[in-house]
Amino acid sequence: MKGITIPVALAVTLMAGSAMAAPTAEAIARNCVVCHGPKEAGQLEIPKIANYPARKMVEMLTGFRAGQKEATIMDRIAKSLTDEQIQALAAHFASQ
Ligand code: HEC
Repeated sequence: MKGITIPVALAVTLMAGSAMAAPTAEAIARNCVVCHGPKEAGQLEIPKIANYPARKMVEMLTGFRAGQKEATIMDRIAKSLTDEQIQALAAHFASQ
């Protein structure tokens, strides 16, 4: 039983985390940096998102979320974002 108890507890914690009221743009942005690189400057095949125009960021993220823009991974990431979070991220990265 011990073997499954821990993963279940972890899953519950993660679900509770994602159900929490609107995490700040800064908190979400920390996840973006993992792929988009230090200072969001991009790395390897991953585009730069620092100083990214806010309107284009909203257009890209909503496009990925709707499956209208070709993506290897961003479609799945965008699906976890609300409209409010997309707006907040757009404002955040535009000012980086
Ligand atoms: C798992 C790695 C990963 C994470 C995490 C990630 N991205 Fe991306 N991002 C990519 C890749 C790869 C692309 C290129 C499109 C594709 O293949 O999905 C991309 C493309 C983009 C683009 C389009 C850039 C352009 O001009 O084409 C934007 C905007 C973007 N990401 C924003 C974000 C934001 C905001 C977050 C955090 C919520 C984020 N990304 C998190 C990997 C990631």
